[in-house]
Amino acid sequence: MSAPVGKGTEGRPTHITAERFFGQGVVVTGAAQGIGKAVAQRIAYEDGNLVLVDRSPIVHEVAEELRQAGAGTVDSFTTDLETFEGATAALEFAGEKLKNLDVVINNVGGTIWAKPFHEYSEEEIRKEINRSLFPTLWMCRAALPILIENGGGTIVNVSSIATGGINRVPYAAAKGGVNGIVSALAHEAAQHNVRVVATAPGGTLAPERAVKRGPGPEGELEKKWYQQIVDQTIDSTLMKRYGTLEEQAAPICFLASEEASYITGSVMPVGGGDQG
Ligand SMILES: NC(=O)c1ccc[n+]([C@@H]2O[C@H](COP(=O)([O-])OP(=O)(O)OC[C@H]3O[C@@H](n4cnc5c(N)ncnc54)[C@H](O)[C@@H]3O)[C@@H](O)[C@H]2O)c1
Repeated sequence: MSAPVGKGTEGRPTHITAERFFGQGVVVTGAAQGIGKAVAQRIAYEDGNLVLVDRSPIVHEVAEELRQAGAGTVDSFTTDLETFEGATAALEFAGEKLKNLDVVINNVGGTIWAKPFHEYSEEEIRKEINRSLFPTLWMCRAALPILIENGGGTIVNVSSIATGGINRVPYAAAKGGVNGIVSALAHEAAQHNVRVVATAPGGTLAPERAVKRGPGPEGELEKKWYQQIVDQTIDSTLMKRYGTLEEQAAPICFLASEEASYITGSVMPVGGGDQG
């Protein structure tokens, strides 16, 4: 058993708020596929100026696809955001391409393994934290001085309802860390006119991943542990289904936009009623 598969996001998104990001400079990380790509699509169609960042060169294809979507520019950059150098390099590139940096959307992350906590090795735990906490921590640290100097801006992090889920404690610890960044940094950053917010997506249907998160469940036991996650995810929703990529992109884009100007320090659960 692997993740439930659903349709991708090609072309014009179903919902558009015309010109919502017109004139705004937006960085989206993890934009080569999945939720990050769906966010990039929506912002491109809403006329934002985008810098798309990913470790995978597929991000350049996504940028190419989106270049004609709206009135804004779309550029792309490959780097490893598990390092501070990678985050700094991404924002230096953004500084060259964008007239102004207004929004940073930190979307990189994702469970690598699914198993009971006592089955994780030390190395696996480190890799989960490196994947799902550090890219957000480093990007926040690297972006903040730029936003402060600009007189303000918005950081949207992508967390997970998995902080309340089974068979992925290290990932939950990383996303709990992301939630901590949101609430603590929002306190510090408000005086600089910087908002810090997040969504916590629930289970989300996406096409088979071109960039794999890890080896995938192997053998009957690992498949069973993965299936337990899928079952619990659906069980914990009120709506008894997975969400779609567009259903995840929409609240991220709302929180990123000026419409959400009185919201900071909040993590919005987007899990069909699962509060995480
Ligand atoms: N898909 C879900 O069901 C779901 C549910 C809850 C939360 N989330 C969260 O939403 C976010 C996006 O999830 P997704 O399923 O769309 O992700 P995904 O695994 O499909 O894509 C992640 C992207 O990030 C890139 N990436 C990974 N490590 C990187 C690094 N060190 N530097 C630069 N780029 C890197 C990958 O190349 C890939 O393009 C993640 O933070 C995930 O934890 C997803």
